[in-house]
Amino acid sequence: MNVRLSTFIALCALCAGMAPPITAAGAPARTTREVVLEKAPGGYRWTLTVAEVPKVGPHQVLIRVHAVALNHDDLDLLAPDPQHDHSGHIIGSDAAGEVIAVGADVTSVHRGERVTNTYFANWTDGPFSSKNLAGMYGSSLNGVFSDYLVLPDTAVVPIPEGLSYEEAATLPTAGLTAWSAVTKGRQLHRGDVVLVQGTGGVSTFALQFAAAMGARVIVTSSSESKLHRALALGASDGLDYRIAPQWADRVRELTHSHGADLVIDVGGKATLGQSVQCLADAGSLAIVGGLTGYDGAISAMGLLMKGARAQAIFVGSRADFRRMDDFIAAHHLHPVVDRVFPLEQHQDAVKYLQSGRFVGKIVLRMQ
Ligand SMILES: NC(=O)c1ccc[n+]([C@@H]2O[C@H](COP(=O)([O-])OP(=O)(O)OC[C@H]3O[C@@H](n4cnc5c(N)ncnc54)[C@H](OP(=O)(O)O)[C@@H]3O)[C@@H](O)[C@H]2O)c1
Repeated sequence: MNVRLSTFIALCALCAGMAPPITAAGAPARTTREVVLEKAPGGYRWTLTVAEVPKVGPHQVLIRVHAVALNHDDLDLLAPDPQHDHSGHIIGSDAAGEVIAVGADVTSVHRGERVTNTYFANWTDGPFSSKNLAGMYGSSLNGVFSDYLVLPDTAVVPIPEGLSYEEAATLPTAGLTAWSAVTKGRQLHRGDVVLVQGTGGVSTFALQFAAAMGARVIVTSSSESKLHRALALGASDGLDYRIAPQWADRVRELTHSHGADLVIDVGGKATLGQSVQCLADAGSLAIVGGLTGYDGAISAMGLLMKGARAQAIFVGSRADFRRMDDFIAAHHLHPVVDRVFPLEQHQDAVKYLQSGRFVGKIVLRMQ
């Protein structure tokens, strides 16, 4: 991981109750709060620090961030890493805010526009390239959990009409990953069966998108009450995988042996086997997550005997993002925000994410 340490200035040791930078009306702020990693027993924890607001280059925009969203991957950075020191690395891949300044050569983004960042700084369109990996906000690049952000004009996307900043902040990672999982493997048809695992960020978006496309969505979850929530969001059936650990059999029963035309696998190692088992003939497996580990195996024979395919998903491009936003606007969808914390309570938000007791997304409000 490439950690940029040079820009921030630690102004005080006790940042937990830090207030946002105060500016005269209209004057650009000179400092910004940032959520960064600091060493803690057993790895890292989040802390607030203050840095200078970077200067806006000719092809860049300055965003006043209103809300940011947490992702499961943010938790991975809390683990100890004997190879690198991540202290000072800015957290987060998802932010929403208002453009308050643009560089001299920027024509496509305007002051006052409501925008989100993209997950990849450099994947604008076309197929995935491993070169994109150098430009991931919050991991290979510093993240976006900051009051003010300077980004390339090509790394922002307008917020769909009707969404709040808190809702829009959930789109860059979980929203777009779910959109790619639902649209890239197989063209969904009305009545197709889609299997979604769990009720976290990616899966809840996938449920909403697939249901809006007319699919029959089956959701697995660890909790009866979460399944009720999933049904209210448009799922047709819910399976509690604690009560029915062989949920692939239940999917086949529920669908009169047809199986699922699309399975969106976020479980990884422990779920891939059943994901293949419950695929329908000519079905599609979207390989998305690694909640139980990314080093899982897929049965080649399992796919072969069904003429099925497996498609790896890595978030998506800016062009995919815009297509998703058009769909969200056309279908009047609203991301499921389980809880919004003020920025100062970022450590409570992390604990809530770790608890798994939520449906959809967890957001921090900056202002
Ligand atoms: N490939 C990509 O581009 C991409 C992008 C984003 C995320 N991801 C990965 O996708 C996974 C999910 O991310 P997320 O942000 O949606 O996570 P999240 O919001 O933290 O959701 C986690 C939820 O998944 C469910 N779950 C946990 N263990 C499970 C298991 N063994 N089997 C089935 N469901 C399980 C739980 O819901 P219930 O209690 O309802 O079961 C849990 O609340 C993570 O591994 C993440 O790293 C990949």
